[in-house]
Amino acid sequence: VVPSPYLTGRNPRVWDTPLRFDPRRFEQLSEEQRAIADRAWVPFGRGPRSCIGFALAQLELTVLAARMAQQLDLTLAAAKVPQPTGVVVSRPRGGTPVLVRPRGASRLDLTPA
Ligand code: HEM
Repeated sequence: VVPSPYLTGRNPRVWDTPLRFDPRRFEQLSEEQRAIADRAWVPFGRGPRSCIGFALAQLELTVLAARMAQQLDLTLAAAKVPQPTGVVVSRPRGGTPVLVRPRGASRLDLTPA
């Protein structure tokens, strides 16, 4: 038996609009939906051998995302939305080119000094 966070995370029987990026989808769950979501959202595994770094990773990712959102404007520079690849952990095929600007700046001057 091979559990797949990729498939359970994209199961339309569990999630409304599973392919939409919607971190707020977890806010309005009924008791029953929460129990189902708890079994389907398994990026860190489940049970006695689940990830011991779960809390650390979640904290790091939250702080990282918050600091980036405070200080930077990120714009996808790829022509198409990158497609996922990978076996255990998904990553964007070919990377994700992003235009990085200090937040509030209209344009980053990349002219060599
Ligand atoms: C985004 C970050 C991370 C993800 C998505 C992730 C995911 C996972 C997954 C899916 C497993 C397998 C669980 C299972 O077999 O059911 C695992 C195991 C493990 N992870 Fe992570 N992990 C992350 C970060 C970390 C960090 C930061 C640490 C350490 C500081 C860590 C340490 C471990 C260890 C030691 C195991 C093996 C646990 C065992 O077999 O008893 N992980 N992780």
